[in-house]
Amino acid sequence: MQHTTRILASIFLGTRFLSAQGSFVNWESPHVHPLELTPDGRHLLAVNTPDARLEVFELRGSELVLRAEIPVGLEPVSVRARTSDEVWVVNHVSDSVSVVSLARRNVIATLATDDEPCDAVFAGTPERAFVSCSQANTLLVLDPEHPEAEPLRISLQGEDPRALAVSPAGERVYVALFESGNQTTILRGEESARAFPPNAVSDPDGPYGGVNPPPNSGASFSPPLRPDLPPPPAVGLIVRRDAAGAWRDDNGRDWSRLVSGDLAARSGRPVGWRLLDHDLAVVDAATLEVSYVSGLMNLDMALAVSPADGSIAVVGTEATNEVRFEPNLTGRFVRSHLALLAPGAGATRVIADLNPELDYARGTLPPAEREQTLAEPRGIAWTGDGTRAYVTGMGSNNVVAVDADGRRVPGAPIEVGEGPTGCVLDAERARLYVLDRFSSSISVVELASEREVKRVPFFDPSPPAIRRGRRHLYDSHATSGTGLVSCASCHVDGRTDRLAWDLGNPQGSMKPIGAAQNLGGGVAGQDTGFEAWHPMKGPMLTQTLQDIVGHEPLHWRGDKDGLEEFAPAFVGLLGDDAPPSPAELQELEDFLATLAFPPNPFRTFGDGLSNDVPLPGHYRTGRFGFAGQPLPDGNAIDGRNYSRPPNLIDGGTRACVSCHTEPTGLGTDHVLERGVFRPAPPGPLGENHCALVAIDGVSNVTLKIPQLRGLHERTGFDLTQLENTAGFGFGHDGSVDSLARFVSDPAFHVQSEQRVANLVAYLLAFGGADQPTGSDTDVLQPIGPSGRGSHAAVGRQLTLDSPPDAVEGARLAAMLAEADTGRVGLVVRGLKDRRPRGWYYLGGGQFQSDRPGEIHSLLELTSAAASQAERTFTVVPAGSEKRLGADRDQDGRLDGAPRLARR
Ligand code: HEC
Ligand code: HEC
Repeated sequence: MQHTTRILASIFLGTRFLSAQGSFVNWESPHVHPLELTPDGRHLLAVNTPDARLEVFELRGSELVLRAEIPVGLEPVSVRARTSDEVWVVNHVSDSVSVVSLARRNVIATLATDDEPCDAVFAGTPERAFVSCSQANTLLVLDPEHPEAEPLRISLQGEDPRALAVSPAGERVYVALFESGNQTTILRGEESARAFPPNAVSDPDGPYGGVNPPPNSGASFSPPLRPDLPPPPAVGLIVRRDAAGAWRDDNGRDWSRLVSGDLAARSGRPVGWRLLDHDLAVVDAATLEVSYVSGLMNLDMALAVSPADGSIAVVGTEATNEVRFEPNLTGRFVRSHLALLAPGAGATRVIADLNPELDYARGTLPPAEREQTLAEPRGIAWTGDGTRAYVTGMGSNNVVAVDADGRRVPGAPIEVGEGPTGCVLDAERARLYVLDRFSSSISVVELASEREVKRVPFFDPSPPAIRRGRRHLYDSHATSGTGLVSCASCHVDGRTDRLAWDLGNPQGSMKPIGAAQNLGGGVAGQDTGFEAWHPMKGPMLTQTLQDIVGHEPLHWRGDKDGLEEFAPAFVGLLGDDAPPSPAELQELEDFLATLAFPPNPFRTFGDGLSNDVPLPGHYRTGRFGFAGQPLPDGNAIDGRNYSRPPNLIDGGTRACVSCHTEPTGLGTDHVLERGVFRPAPPGPLGENHCALVAIDGVSNVTLKIPQLRGLHERTGFDLTQLENTAGFGFGHDGSVDSLARFVSDPAFHVQSEQRVANLVAYLLAFGGADQPTGSDTDVLQPIGPSGRGSHAAVGRQLTLDSPPDAVEGARLAAMLAEADTGRVGLVVRGLKDRRPRGWYYLGGGQFQSDRPGEIHSLLELTSAAASQAERTFTVVPAGSEKRLGADRDQDGRLDGAPRLARR
């Protein structure tokens, strides 16, 4: 774990964590529609996500000739050609759309969007542009002739709208909701100090009369409980709504009375509670009315409309997370699905398994069978006559064909580059182009032979740690026994599937608390009461893998000392023949160490907290005022003040920050020794020791203090509402529905609804790029580890096509001021003398151009902005401005240096 050691060393030496982050920040943004053919068939366009550029290839005969590489916003994930000249590029981290002119090879306008935009399409008469914004759950509607006008905003009832498609006549827009869910939810089963929700699993009126944990196979456990284990703790239970509408567990027993029926209140739910499972939103391009299609799959990853008859194909994965225990899941806990819907989404014609030959009875198959599977379908393209569609498998590095009925065409898959996402058909040349996200290349597939005939690489600035280690997370053929699954099946894009899984094992063993564990930071009263970890841990929410390295121990309970202890999961969970070698595991760890949290949309431009955060979608719990009414706007600054001394909770014994240190939320990685917090010594493999506590749980007693970033991505479960868009919420098993509920618990002593709102606002805004606060002597606010967060301004853009007006001038001044603090960088890209040029900010109002010795002032850069000479300012992570502005390949020679001197 050399990498960890290095990071820890830099923390201990007090160097800024920016230096650990370097010139490349990896947000691992998901591709949505990354490849496009212009309507005239002349150009193939590909987003270059790591390099923040659009690659423009000219199609000349059978050649792909690179014509331009146009800088766009941060993390471009989709590209759509409105005409053969005007192209829209959707930038996931910049929260923007770059409108590009291919003829001018420049960004001519930049449109701000809601948080985490994913895709754009054009539809309707008159033509409108539609932009999906996944974190905000919105669809923006713009007039492409006046894109700068304030857009209409459609709020969608579902989590993470991403991929878009249009009906053949353009009268309807289809939106795939990535995290639609799969009709599973959690029943709380633990006894704890928490007031809500009630323990439904142990309820005597449940189907097992309160036995907890209930059996999963008839009257017993399968596999059977090892006789030498102590009795398993009471835990929660995952139930799934079946086709007939009954809520059943994996043993077939019916929990409907407690979930939605007459006894629903005993699980904290209202009678008639419904879990929406909206996979597809159908939007009328004229009236903007929305209807929904449900019941297709868990993660709706991509979709395409057949040009022949308007049938809609949605591809993605379905998860069997209601099935308990790791041995019953090995190698086969997700399916790759294709759902085919009648034109207009009138009816679901079929939900087909993209791996129809796979034997799900076994978790380990012969290697030849593994090679046939398709994993993580991320792209789909129909042929013009609608007789075939091609589906990419990002996890399996291949492409398969399906017929007009959505059934997989027999035959071996087409092998392509690493991490194929987008695909487009070129009817004229009888070819399929595939964008390989991980190998940064375009695979050219000949349709006649259905084989890759060429692979065209493009520039990729990703550090070797990313390029080497990624495959261990994603590659299903290399890491699983069925070829179907990988770590990324659940840790989707290095994040989470928004589900809970019970990966316990009745055949497992107890794990004792080791001597190296950091028990409550060594603070008296907080360092006792810990219990060994039972192997039947119960349902746990899938955790994100962002910024976990250096923040050990791992898992909700802290029961894994370091990433090394995940080697057995490759065999036990993925069904692989052997665990990875230590060198391979190190590669995985080095890759995971690059994953950073994106900018937080609830923070201010200066990465601070706001005193006025609107809280749509957050409701009163009923502790003060009427349950289910909207929360007032929250004051995150007050929320933060409430979380620290002198304000104390838990009967006056501690503050939130006594456990959740800033900026990560993790417990301290120091231990109190004779009144002073000293760094916990790293473990034998370099792992860190963040604090565990034994206060919250009664069933799972020993818990790690969890990090608190990205909480805003996990909303949608709210039991004050009759209809929910997620079945899991907060806490290790996801049984606490909302953040408002979490902080309304009596132990937190909150006395008003306004305080609840303020704390919710603070939690939504948690993180940012701050350095650790805290003290090395105050037990109420110990010092914690640093984090890989992103400054909230990172990605913000402004395009000038004339010298700035007052509003633009103020925005530029704010960008420069923030860059002058050293917490962010700033770059400018655009045309000068009709040539593409770049600059990066040196400070003090001066910009270094991409030519040696050439420095321009802000005024020089802005006064020359004009139509045909547009300039785009982009806030970038501190340390990356030189790479993004003027030295793309970081060879020390500036991009615009005289040609002779370049390679
Ligand atoms: C079936 C879904 C699933 C798969 C597949 C999966 N995980 Fe997980 N992962 C989870 C869940 C659930 C948790 C939380 C478990 C717990 O806390 O006990 C988790 C937690 C983790 C954590 C801890 C993160 C933290 O912040 O502490 C790591 C690391 C991790 N997984 C790595 C992996 C690796 C490596 C693989 C592939 C070998 C993998 N996971 C495969 C569901 C999955
Ligand atoms: C004694 C240490 C401790 C204190 C004090 C504490 N927490 Fe926690 N917090 C935890 C632990 C442990 C968990 C994990 C609980 C679980 O897994 O069910 C947690 C979980 C959470 C979560 C859910 C995180 C997630 O990812 O689902 C939130 C939100 C949270 N705490 C907020 C707060 C706030 C706000 C305060 C102060 C009002 C606070 N906590 C005080 C230890 C603490």
